[in-house]
Amino acid sequence: MAQVKFFSGEQIPLEMHKVRIVQKLSLPPVEERLEAITAAGNNTFLLQNKDVFMDMLTDSGVNAMSDQQMAAMMVADDSYAGSATYTRLESKLQDIFGMQFFLPTHQGRACENILAQVFVTPGSIVPMNYHFTTTKAHITVNGGTVEEIIADKGLEVTSVDPFKGDMDIDKLEALIAKNGADKIAFVRMEAGTNLIGGQPFSLQNLCDIRRVCDQHGVLLVMDASLLADNLYFNKTREASCKDLSIREITRKLADCCDIIYFSARKLGCARGGGICIRNEELYRRMRGLVPLYEGFLTYGGMSVREMEAITVGLEETMDEDMISQGPQFIAYMVDELQKRGIPVITPAGGLGCHVDVMRFLDHVPQSQYPAGALASALYIISGVRGMERGTLSEQREPDGSEVFSNMELVRLAMPRRVFTLSQVKYAIDRIDWLYQNRKLVEGLVFTEEPEILRFFYGRLAPVSDWQQKLVAKFRADFGDSL
Ligand SMILES: Cc1ncc(COP(=O)(O)O)c(C=O)c1O
Repeated sequence: MAQVKFFSGEQIPLEMHKVRIVQKLSLPPVEERLEAITAAGNNTFLLQNKDVFMDMLTDSGVNAMSDQQMAAMMVADDSYAGSATYTRLESKLQDIFGMQFFLPTHQGRACENILAQVFVTPGSIVPMNYHFTTTKAHITVNGGTVEEIIADKGLEVTSVDPFKGDMDIDKLEALIAKNGADKIAFVRMEAGTNLIGGQPFSLQNLCDIRRVCDQHGVLLVMDASLLADNLYFNKTREASCKDLSIREITRKLADCCDIIYFSARKLGCARGGGICIRNEELYRRMRGLVPLYEGFLTYGGMSVREMEAITVGLEETMDEDMISQGPQFIAYMVDELQKRGIPVITPAGGLGCHVDVMRFLDHVPQSQYPAGALASALYIISGVRGMERGTLSEQREPDGSEVFSNMELVRLAMPRRVFTLSQVKYAIDRIDWLYQNRKLVEGLVFTEEPEILRFFYGRLAPVSDWQQKLVAKFRADFGDSL
């Protein structure tokens, strides 16, 4: 987004694109929204899109594409093997990350499957700044454990720290000293750390981790799914990056890593994924799993059209105007909510606006999934679909006990270049109303709890008739408004 000052003094993000294709939305009345969320087992993943007004569930695979991406999709080369489309994508990744080898996959978690199968063995440890749900599941399924050694500031919900996604270097050194380098499968750094509010790490932190990895002969892997946001924050918040181009910052980050994997549902604004590898020996160790699980080495389960779109999308990610749209819209939403006294994660990060449910619903115990309850309540009163990121998204311990999440969040993702500012204002207005009426919201209990990744398709019920009371209050306050 350009540095444009308004004569009025108002500070709002200004879009550096125009909209040329639109999708019609509908907003069902509040009574129908209650029926829809009940039918969905109070799980926003199970709502039908026709019942959703603003879909803020995720930024995954739902970012707006550019005209250049759409045009590139029309010239894709369908060859099963030796496809020119593959070569274009491989060259773009080599150009951006400076790594020679590339393995395509159908999406981000497929990369995690391959990495975990090759490097994680029973008893091994994967230190990381913070886990992502699918990452942790793949590591534990292969017998490993995840050690989150995020710097303490990362778990402070409200902060002004620019790099809450940084790893604690002392903790990394202590972990290696205690367990021995042989036990470390690899160190994983997640760009734009998803589950703590889309918070970035600094280039300096990654360089420091590289130094420790070099000392102990340990691999450093970056999850670059949310790299676009991280790059924007490196550029705008880190003094040493201020005069570097986005491309230069990308290369400096990549230079620290042995392996970079990504979900192209986020990075590159299309649908797919892949693993970039510096060293041929590592590439050969992983290569066999691509034809086994994904598809031949020149498509890895992706449509060639998507691969063309990713290639263009990666190049567009090097444009600060492009990557600043999400973070600036998110910053606007976070600021406006804060002005109204609504608890949110600060500083504003990437990916979306994160509501701090521990404070929003401080009367709902973690055993009743407050973040799930708030996501359900928000949908009922607004048609806005957010995502629970709290205890419900955790896995139970092997003995069946709950793992209470460090943070209880409702994530309101801001798919890139999708919403207008007036839609964002609508979401802010309804969250404000819900905050004023928060005592009406109570908890949820599972009625159907899957063993793996339960948040995706588990079903829950309210602990009382609180949802009916919420609808009645909405009608009393808003009359016949949708
Ligand atoms: C940081 C991070 N890593 C990995 C993934 C998994 O990617 P995918 O959804 O493409 O499987 C995601 C998805 O949200 C993510 O945010």
